[in-house]
Amino acid sequence: MERILSDLVSQCRTLLQADSGPEGRRQVAALLSDQLASPDVVAALVPPSTGERDLLYQDPDLGFCILAHNYTGPKSSSPHDHGPSWAIYAQARGETEMTDFELVTPAAEDRPGTVKAVRTYRLCPGDAHVYDEGDLHAPARSGPTSLLRIEGTDMSRVKRLRYEAIA
Ligand SMILES: [Fe+2]
Repeated sequence: MERILSDLVSQCRTLLQADSGPEGRRQVAALLSDQLASPDVVAALVPPSTGERDLLYQDPDLGFCILAHNYTGPKSSSPHDHGPSWAIYAQARGETEMTDFELVTPAAEDRPGTVKAVRTYRLCPGDAHVYDEGDLHAPARSGPTSLLRIEGTDMSRVKRLRYEAIA
């Protein structure tokens, strides 16, 4: 685990130091996709003992966080973005049905924004998808799933705005 994680951290750091923008993130997503093809990596980074949100690593310089998630049953989220951050979802086990949304009316502190669905697609094991700042999405999982996520910053410290889907 320690070696596999430290190798992943060092590769992520190299890619994001070279390009912290969308292209660098896409390279990190490609790296995750490649890594998750290995059952040893999946077993090391997302063991069955993983909880719903385990922080594996936070980078002291670049701020990105590597998280492991294990859901033992169905788990869905309403439409959201990651505020000032980007995020990469990388599927390790099971399937996530992801829907992307476009913004209709912006959210405010006291009022949810409204969004409209634009496409739905599946994230299968080995698939990794980048959500840049403001990209609105909602994952739905009908059975057990495991995933790795990398966020650009520690989202547990960021206040999130709410969004409601409209037809
Ligand atoms: Fe998200």
